[in-house]
Amino acid sequence: MSIRRLPSELINRIAAGEVVERPASALKELVENSLDAGAKSIAIRLSAGGLDLLEVTDDGWGMVPSEMVLALERHATSKLPDDAIESVTSFGFRGEALPSIASVSRLTMESRPRGTDGWRIEIDHGVKMGDWPAALPPGTRIRVEGLFDKVPARRKFLRSPRSEYGACLDAVKRLAMARPDVSFSVEHDGRRVLAVQPSEGPTRVAALLSHELDRHGIGIDCVRHDMRLTGVISLPTFNRGMADQQYLFVNSRPVKDRLLVGALRAAYRDLLARDRHAVAALFVEVPTAEVDINVHPAKTEVRFRDPAAVRGLIVGGLKAALDEAGHRSAAREQFAQPAAWQVEPIAPPTCLPRESGYPASFFSMSAESSGTPAFAGVTELRRDFQPQGRAEAAQQPPAVHISYPLGVARGQVAATYIVAEAEDGLVIVDQHAAHERLVLERMRKAASGGKVARQNLLIPDVVELEEPDCDRLEAAIDELGELGLEIERFGPTAILVRATPAPLGKSDIPALLADLAAELAELGTALSLRDKLDHVAATIACHGSVRAGRILSVAEMNALLREMEVTPHSGQCNHGRPTWVKLAHGDIEKLFGRK
Ligand SMILES: Nc1ncnc2c1ncn2[C@@H]1O[C@H](COP(=O)(O)OP(=O)(O)OP(=O)(O)O)[C@@H](O)[C@H]1O
Ligand SMILES: [Mg+2]
Repeated sequence: MSIRRLPSELINRIAAGEVVERPASALKELVENSLDAGAKSIAIRLSAGGLDLLEVTDDGWGMVPSEMVLALERHATSKLPDDAIESVTSFGFRGEALPSIASVSRLTMESRPRGTDGWRIEIDHGVKMGDWPAALPPGTRIRVEGLFDKVPARRKFLRSPRSEYGACLDAVKRLAMARPDVSFSVEHDGRRVLAVQPSEGPTRVAALLSHELDRHGIGIDCVRHDMRLTGVISLPTFNRGMADQQYLFVNSRPVKDRLLVGALRAAYRDLLARDRHAVAALFVEVPTAEVDINVHPAKTEVRFRDPAAVRGLIVGGLKAALDEAGHRSAAREQFAQPAAWQVEPIAPPTCLPRESGYPASFFSMSAESSGTPAFAGVTELRRDFQPQGRAEAAQQPPAVHISYPLGVARGQVAATYIVAEAEDGLVIVDQHAAHERLVLERMRKAASGGKVARQNLLIPDVVELEEPDCDRLEAAIDELGELGLEIERFGPTAILVRATPAPLGKSDIPALLADLAAELAELGTALSLRDKLDHVAATIACHGSVRAGRILSVAEMNALLREMEVTPHSGQCNHGRPTWVKLAHGDIEKLFGRK
């Protein structure tokens, strides 16, 4: 076979394969070009999710006809005047977006620098069709029609216009968050779907993210050495089933970087279930020399010179903010909001007509906004309800009970929920979820103060595992030891367990080791010892929650309530679900129509 130099058209189509994956990626390139051209206002028109039409009009500095011709050539850029890629601050620098897009569509470019006449060039799948004078305001307008019409292989992988539209809107939102000083508008199939005016960063982010973040968000601003992290993240109780509202930026460049996404995830690890995701807009600023932006054709990934430092900034900064907000999340929200109390499943429906005049939100917590059903346990309770509640008079009601935020235990329902009376209302605690949290916080405290107490096994347990899992556990022997789990390698595919963490109580040791091995595999080597300890502690705590279904004495219930009151994060279980809810007296009165 003979080797040949490829014609430039084919080269462009090959490049398009990397740069222009779908309409949203073409749109991103066009909008970035407008921003690089100093635009202050960008108007976008889309048809059929960008498949039929993508049009971007800007008021930037435009191009004269000779520049327009060059712009459509491969490797032609105005953004690298001195070959210094390291210090590039523009979005583009590769000089390949326009020729790539033009090779897989019909592209019309119109441009007019201030004080000159406008000009237009039309390209059909990489072939110039002609050029003419054009009438337009100063700036540039680029229209892309029939993207991928002649690339069936690519077209096959596109999704419905609806989801391509979603991706386009998302791409615009990311850039609009990156550049709050620029106004953006988007029209889809003739309908205005987005319009934002120049504003301050936080205002712009608030306008584009779920507005619920006003109430459920935590502002972030932290500095470490020469790096800074700003933005907003959601409280753990406000989460989503998809990671689709996570906006990450490095030096104002929107990125979908694995390291950053992983760090965000790590910060929430023991506050959110694995399949739930936080909402976040986070801006990392680092000196340009600390980050390589030229590692990905679409420029959506970056490489940090010191990834551990960036990870530390994010995990550390977010954890500190989450810790501070920890008590607030469940406690205040639920004191303040009857909405968190899901009434319907408890009472016969006829007693609680929805048209009672109270807002619908009063009766149920929206699963979309809260992420998890607030009170799934109660639903279950009703389904197979057997009257198994117990109430036992406390021997000597504590004199000062009235001042306990979680009140005094009055009984237990379904061997799972503690019912308590507080000064201002009725409290129900999910003892299983609460206990899991307490075990974790106890382990954390013990781990930070030295060592977690261990419980020696009379006869060491031998657990058979896959060899790589054994390798991982063996590599973490010291960390696990600090958490009270004493293990030894026992041949290629087995681990010997000598002692388990005392706060854990009795548990299924093989299952615990399997989970720990999986956890360590996922965490990889990127995490510091400190971070790893924390995650491992959460996995262990999960195995320690043996209290569901256990009958508790009133004294035990009260002990649990008192411990919850003084334990950080006790308002939510390790998966972000609330551990308790409160129905204020006023809300009870409303339920009975007394108010
Ligand atoms: N909207 C615009 N206004 C003014 N000039 C533009 C505009 N769009 C493109 N250009 C010019 O065309 C050139 C080529 O654009 P193209 O997007 O192909 O490459 P780039 O932006 O330089 O790099 P990259 O491939 O990384 O995006 C740019 O360098 C810029 O000079
Ligand atoms: Mg570009």
